[in-house]
Amino acid sequence: MSLELCRMSLQQTRDLLELTDTTLRSLCCRRFTNEELYVEAIRRVLGGKGRRGPHSIFLVIDGEPGSLSRGRVFHLRPGEMVEASEYVVIDPGSVYAIPFIKDAVLVSNWDEKTESMDKYQASFHPQIKEFVGVPITNFIACRISGEYRGAIFAFNYAREATEYDAGVLVILAVVIGSLVTLSNEVRETERAFVYTIEALARACEAAEESTGEHIVRVNRYAGALAANMGLSTDFVETISYSAQMHDVGKIKVPNEILLKPGQLTPEEERLIKLHPVFGERILGDSPRLRIAREIAIAHHENWDGSGYPYGLNGDRIPLAGRIVKVADVYDALRSRRSYKAPMGHREALEVFRSGDARIDPKRHFDPEILKTFFEIEHMYEAIYESVTGATTHDWLF
Ligand SMILES: [Fe+2]
Ligand SMILES: [Fe+2]
Repeated sequence: MSLELCRMSLQQTRDLLELTDTTLRSLCCRRFTNEELYVEAIRRVLGGKGRRGPHSIFLVIDGEPGSLSRGRVFHLRPGEMVEASEYVVIDPGSVYAIPFIKDAVLVSNWDEKTESMDKYQASFHPQIKEFVGVPITNFIACRISGEYRGAIFAFNYAREATEYDAGVLVILAVVIGSLVTLSNEVRETERAFVYTIEALARACEAAEESTGEHIVRVNRYAGALAANMGLSTDFVETISYSAQMHDVGKIKVPNEILLKPGQLTPEEERLIKLHPVFGERILGDSPRLRIAREIAIAHHENWDGSGYPYGLNGDRIPLAGRIVKVADVYDALRSRRSYKAPMGHREALEVFRSGDARIDPKRHFDPEILKTFFEIEHMYEAIYESVTGATTHDWLF
């Protein structure tokens, strides 16, 4: 191998490692689609400055084994991949059907395969030829391994397609294939995690809020507040499924007390006011549930320190708890309780503005969050309307 080729090979390996590293770090955040990841890998490894790459790529990433049939053509320019086509669909029964590439990689140069360029051209799908835009003189086809079957077709390397080029393409396909499979596993685990959390929240939902809609709405209100406060995407996503856990601790409080219509005894009141502590304990010490734990423990604290269980004030109250407090209070005002009728949106807004017998907005809420609430109050109304069954189950009682 020449020195120049050695250098390029080293640089391409570095490109791929760098991409693998970034991707692994962002796996949980799911910031890419499978196609994006392949495009990015091809752009960096084959299209970087001074790299040896093909003129065009036909990328198929969602095919089924034996019937790979849908892909897009891209052109490789120094440092970028230019999308050249919409999806090209190849009929699996046609002469252009893409065969299952048995040996993972295939290297083809026209003068080794056929006696004439015209004959060689005839073997390619007309639409692909059209998008490639110049006569195809060579190509490498490489199978994508992993959960999603697919293939990369790299057309027109300078002079000829070589074993070296094939090697680079195979490594790229194997690494990206593994990353895609891994990211799908992570997504699956993530879905199972969120599903478990929902099941837990539903099982523990306070007896009075048993329609399940309250927790869905609180998730959405909290997410809307966080997003409009300019908080990070991660935080917004996490609070949007963690808010529903705010009252998990109520599972430890008997229903007779939670639903008692009359005055509570001091002992009963003490027990109810312990539900944030019970909730924190139920959620345990998993790092994945940190925000949920903060919400459970802090959603009854007040900005001026007059809340419970610890009487924390100001910034000492975890941010997620301060946000969910606003969301929870709004929904409680809008909902029917054994001791009160539901309020309309305007009425609830008035309480957030001027307070009532139980709520003093200036003393209870974080002023920044309250400000954001008033900026997006129309979203609160829309969330309430969209996640409230027309029949609220009232007819059952
Ligand atoms: Fe609560
Ligand atoms: Fe609640």
